[in-house]
Amino acid sequence: MTFGKAENPHYVVLEYIRGHNLKNLITSRSRTPYGSTRSMFGCRSMVGLAFMHDRSLLHRDFCSDNVMIGTGWRAKIIDFGFCLPRGRSFEQRSGTPTYMAPEQFTVEPLTPAADIYSMGVVAYEMLASRPPFLTPFSHNDPDVQDKRTMALMEMHLRHRRRRCDRSILNVPAAVEAVFMKCLAKAPRTATRASWKCAGH
Ligand SMILES: Nc1ncnc2c1ncn2[C@@H]1O[C@H](COP(=O)(O)OP(=O)(O)OP(=O)(O)O)[C@@H](O)[C@H]1O
Ligand SMILES: [Mg+2]
Repeated sequence: MTFGKAENPHYVVLEYIRGHNLKNLITSRSRTPYGSTRSMFGCRSMVGLAFMHDRSLLHRDFCSDNVMIGTGWRAKIIDFGFCLPRGRSFEQRSGTPTYMAPEQFTVEPLTPAADIYSMGVVAYEMLASRPPFLTPFSHNDPDVQDKRTMALMEMHLRHRRRRCDRSILNVPAAVEAVFMKCLAKAPRTATRASWKCAGH
């Protein structure tokens, strides 16, 4: 990976990743097998996120659209356009509303727990074939984007997350419980604050 600055915008050059966008993989099948989810979140796949967090950087837009899947469900994170140092309070909120942590909608300074919440949303989406919070507003209709964002903000901040156990097949209860804890509202909740990605 390399990076630089051309006139004003900064740029990052990534290796070309031969594989499939995770969002497309999820939507093209009725269910992502638990084994695939385990492969993706296990072994080395999430080390990229830990690498960033160890350097006090936040991705801020972790979502299934921004994960590329290669052979054996090895995952690589892409799209570092919103990446910033941790701890700042941002006047302008950024991210993809379906995946944003509650604190990303407020002025609270962000920590790695925000990315961990987004990771929990992606895990839920893989296992249940739908994200935990949905609105009736289409993300393809530009006229309803504000309503859609407000509705998702309300759900991330206040709604109880739906359990996905009925729609999940063959997922050990303990694994489901860990992923559900990633969706805790408060960033300081144990699992969100202390998640260590594999290899760390
Ligand atoms: N390094 C890469 N290797 C292979 N494909 C990539 C790579 N980076 C991006 N892509 C492909 O391009 C798509 C868009 O890239 P990216 O997420 O960086 O941009 P974006 O700003 O989110 O664009 P858009 O909003 O149009 O999705 C990805 O979903 C992926 O399919
Ligand atoms: Mg993207």
